[in-house]
Amino acid sequence: MSAQQTSVPVVAIDGPGGSGKGTVAMRLAQDLGWHFLDSGALYRLVAVAAMDRGIAADDEAALGRLAEGLDVNFGVSGDGMLVLLDGNYITGRLRSEPVSAFSSRAAALPAVRAALVRRQRAFRKPPGLVADGRDMGSVIFPDARLKVFLTASPDARAARRYKQLKEKGENVNLSRLLEEIRKRDERDSSRAISPLKPAPDAHIIDSTEMSIDDVLIIVHGLFQGLSADD
Ligand code: C5P
Repeated sequence: MSAQQTSVPVVAIDGPGGSGKGTVAMRLAQDLGWHFLDSGALYRLVAVAAMDRGIAADDEAALGRLAEGLDVNFGVSGDGMLVLLDGNYITGRLRSEPVSAFSSRAAALPAVRAALVRRQRAFRKPPGLVADGRDMGSVIFPDARLKVFLTASPDARAARRYKQLKEKGENVNLSRLLEEIRKRDERDSSRAISPLKPAPDAHIIDSTEMSIDDVLIIVHGLFQGLSADD
């Protein structure tokens, strides 16, 4: 990485699925006029590409090669992100539960994680980057200016996911979602490489009883506090 790149400020927002980190990170990036990286989308893209090609979730060599060569493009639409894989729009498929489960299994494989490191760091461009994921503050951008670890109870996260998927017209079951969230937490937290855990210097925010707006106010406050210290 060039010296110019490392001087570009990063805000890292990590946490489990359904904690609200994606929405908070995207809105913070919009407010600051910075770039945005949804690192989970990269793991989800590996999952979609693998499922389309019939590659198994434990075939580390094949998944590593796939992650290395992924042909991906991101764009922004009015209310969210547009994702192209091999030139095709696949945004709608990214958040489905089979893709969530596959991506979490693939993300435990060292070859997949290694293949995505450079791709993630390439998002670090002036004037700054807001990155959301599991290991943004601990592994990918350890020198991030501000690190936030956003969490919420599994019940609150399952209820949020339920609402999101319902609004998209998907047929979902709350208790199954809760079960899947617990399984994914367990897998993400217990894996040997880059497990889901706060960086030692992260600010931990529990959003169980908070709205996204409440969380954004806190994160903006932390960010402004940093600027005042500079
Ligand atoms: O954040 P999201 O739920 O979209 O991430 C999908 C999966 O990708 C997670 O369950 C996790 O296993 C993996 N992931 C990861 N490291 C990241 C981002 C996501 O391991 N930085």
